Amino acid sequence: GGVTRYEAENATISQGAVESNHAGYSGTGFVNGDNAAGSYVEWTVNGAAGAATLRIRYANGTTAGRPATITVNGATVAADQPFNGTGAWATWATATVPVTLRSGANTVRITANTAAGNPNLDYLEV
Ligand code: GCU
Ligand code: CA
Repeated sequence: GGVTRYEAENATISQGAVESNHAGYSGTGFVNGDNAAGSYVEWTVNGAAGAATLRIRYANGTTAGRPATITVNGATVAADQPFNGTGAWATWATATVPVTLRSGANTVRITANTAAGNPNLDYLEV
């Protein structure tokens, strides 16, 4: 099947806010997570059973990576996704992560590993 876009502003946010003060986002904004370890965004996405690719659009206007843990249905698929600096908060990049999905609803969570928090998150495509 085709790719579906799931906006971060429509996802579940733990410690963070929807903002729109940096240009170039999709939809109505992006999630600015609190700069805290453990802050996360969680999406529920529809899947077909088998291999898939997560496409995560983000911006990190700092020069330090914002490593995160990515889980699918509670299982870690990336323990240290780097989310390196993109050069500016209005400069967006896409990280790709290979995963295995089940048929139907799947939860995808991106949790900040460090006190710097997550990058700004625009959307998840599956
Ligand atoms: C700035 C920026 C935010 C970003 C934050 C951060 O405040 O405007 O969009 O989330 O830095 O460092 O996380
Ligand atoms: Ca932030």
